[in-house]
Amino acid sequence: MRELVAVLDFGSQYAQLIARRIRECGVYCEILPHDTTARELKKMAPKALVLSGGPSSVMDEGHPAMDPEVLSSGIPVLGICYGLQLMAKLLGGTLERGRAREYGPAYIDVVGDGEFFSRLGHKIDVWMSHGDHVASAPAGFKVLARTATCPVAAMGDEGRRLYGVQFHPEVVHTPRGREILKNFLFGIAHCSGGWTMAGFIEESVKNIRETVGDGRVVCGLSGGVDSTVTAALLHRAIGNRMTAIFVDNGVLRGGEVEEIRKLFIHDYPLNLDVVDAGARFLDNLKGVIEPEQKRKIIGRTFIDVFSEEARRIGGADFLAQGTLYTDIIESRSAKGGPSATIKSHHNVGGLPEDLKFTLIEPLKEIFKDEVRVVGRELGLPESLVQRQPFPGPGLAVRILGEVNAQNVAILQQADLRVQEEIRKWEGYPEVWQSFAVLLPVKSVGVMGDERTYANVIAVRAVSSQDGMTADWVKVPYEVLAKISTRIINEVKGVNRVVYDISSKPPSTIEWE
Ligand code: XMP
Repeated sequence: MRELVAVLDFGSQYAQLIARRIRECGVYCEILPHDTTARELKKMAPKALVLSGGPSSVMDEGHPAMDPEVLSSGIPVLGICYGLQLMAKLLGGTLERGRAREYGPAYIDVVGDGEFFSRLGHKIDVWMSHGDHVASAPAGFKVLARTATCPVAAMGDEGRRLYGVQFHPEVVHTPRGREILKNFLFGIAHCSGGWTMAGFIEESVKNIRETVGDGRVVCGLSGGVDSTVTAALLHRAIGNRMTAIFVDNGVLRGGEVEEIRKLFIHDYPLNLDVVDAGARFLDNLKGVIEPEQKRKIIGRTFIDVFSEEARRIGGADFLAQGTLYTDIIESRSAKGGPSATIKSHHNVGGLPEDLKFTLIEPLKEIFKDEVRVVGRELGLPESLVQRQPFPGPGLAVRILGEVNAQNVAILQQADLRVQEEIRKWEGYPEVWQSFAVLLPVKSVGVMGDERTYANVIAVRAVSSQDGMTADWVKVPYEVLAKISTRIINEVKGVNRVVYDISSKPPSTIEWE
């Protein structure tokens, strides 16, 4: 059985980060709801538990609770922030409500010695973010660290292997946080480590072969990182019994279809089926300007095309999707309980009844950064592994107004120039998405001796962690100047370029 550490999630914005940090230490980690019972946990036999932070106060009515038996089940536990406070409350410590929130850098004084802070010295820089604090540790616990304002910055009961910290070891602002987590995982909980993406690939290949047997699989390929890595993994497992279906919907980035063909026919050959459906999509989009209607039409047409193609190639028993662990967690918290329903735009949802597929989701246990590592290990090129996110409805939501072949061609040409120039800039690795948008207005210009009346392109570049919030990127004027000159000189039909300086919220990343 695979070694597991579980994070009980009390609603912290950092729960996923905790899990990723633990995985970076080479230990597989899953996030579970905070009310997972001791009995349920016993079945999973975790080597250790982490209680996450959370926005609530343990001193308020109805705060998120946990099964107290978990703390006497013999599993080593590390409580972080809210997790520490809850542990203290359940085991008989006392808490004090903070008069003001402590937020930001602090340093802790380590008291005494022991495995928890071993090899870390007596003063450690940490990141604090809390209101309440533990005033006195429960019986059996020793105070392991304190700060000027926080009498119990860390506590531990060596015998029961229960530990808690008020600060956040998982954030980068706690520079030695990883060492603290390692002390807990390896020194206290005796994890053995060894969770690697190479191991993950081996395990997945074995599972896919067992699940699929002699069956056949279709995989919807969008050109994005997740579906590409899914296809590559399936190919490694079952070779030509997987067909990757790539639908050219007519609103892809310039050169995309050729790129996919080159990659999967020459560089990384696999069973690829490119469906040229551009005309059909554009036909269905004729005259439509309302953004949500565009999305619906594209979604529906995609399902029609995909279903017809799956039937045409002789059906399949399985449908592979690039669902990620984040999708699973997010849909679970959105529904208030465990569920396998994923955000609709990640799925080939709504397939007709007569296409009876069993779903295969080989990436559903891993995070985006791990998917990239898997992609690299499978030999996919860096340009693909590092790809920016691209919306399912493609350029259709970047063409404000009607989507037609002429508008698509203008935007593709403009977008290619944005990409080429911004990639040369040394700040590019910080860019989350960069693209061109075709506006539904025309403006007056002058070219040579001629008056022009032509299209306006907006350039957008944002930085973001997860797409939920975003800042516009301060791209240097010289780079913007090059982008503007190239678009106006080289793309027929454009005589003006503007730069979008709005952040999300209140704007969104895409214009539609
Ligand atoms: P917004 O525009 O909502 O975008 O700030 C957030 C992130 O989601 C992407 N996006 C989409 N992805 N289907 C998708 O698959 C869509 O309809 C869609 N709309 C936005 C967007 O590119 C950004 O990364």
